[in-house]
Amino acid sequence: GDVAVLVPAAGAGVRLGPGRPKALRLLGGEPLLVHAVRRLAAAGSVHTIVVAAPAADVAGVRELLAPVAPVTVVAGGAERQASVALALAAVPPGPEIILVHDAARALTPPELVESVAAAVREGRHAVIPVLPVVDTIKEVGAEEMVLGTVDRSALRAVQTPQGFRRSVLAAAHAAAGDALTDDAGLVEKQGVPVFCVPGSEYALKITRPFDLALAEHLLAAADR
Ligand code: CTP
Ligand code: MG
Repeated sequence: GDVAVLVPAAGAGVRLGPGRPKALRLLGGEPLLVHAVRRLAAAGSVHTIVVAAPAADVAGVRELLAPVAPVTVVAGGAERQASVALALAAVPPGPEIILVHDAARALTPPELVESVAAAVREGRHAVIPVLPVVDTIKEVGAEEMVLGTVDRSALRAVQTPQGFRRSVLAAAHAAAGDALTDDAGLVEKQGVPVFCVPGSEYALKITRPFDLALAEHLLAAADR
């Protein structure tokens, strides 16, 4: 394995509603983070996993993941970007390919992890999994008045894991200004080309209660 994966898992999960931090909410009786780490560890290229956990849960997350896979657990930060930077700082020398993967994308298949890693290995500096946008997209202005229809054919919805040459991700985080919601965005600001590979519907981000309900059904169907 030549790949290290950073797993930002320190978010509260406000949009999921009141309860434990999102990475520790249950899906099929196990925390989202356990599902995510199990699938990462099942990808043969993955050598190192660093989880950024909620600061109050670092010890608990270490215990939780010990039977799942060998992982390093650090305290995350106030923003996703800070959590990724803290996890990145904990990667030992060695892996030259670094993936960043949301704990909230708990059902991401190992095959997607491998396809992102493979594109970096083949020479891409930055790689993101994407899906076509299925809905018609409108730009809307004041008082909910439509300004125009956006050309959907050029749009993609972006998932994780996002993959990077280690030096590219390190430079992008070192230069980072305002917090962005994805790491490829930081890399784009550095002028580095970002390559798209096909994503997976199973890599959906569990954000709202509807997503968690959908994930429960997907998991139950996969177990049958
Ligand atoms: N994340 C993190 N540190 C933060 C904020 C988010 O590590 N300070 C992680 C989340 O744990 C999640 C991923 O980044 O795995 C994607 O973020 P999101 O889906 O927005 O999760 P939350 O921030 O937890 O959810 P919400 O925005 O609804 O509070
Ligand atoms: Mg968030």
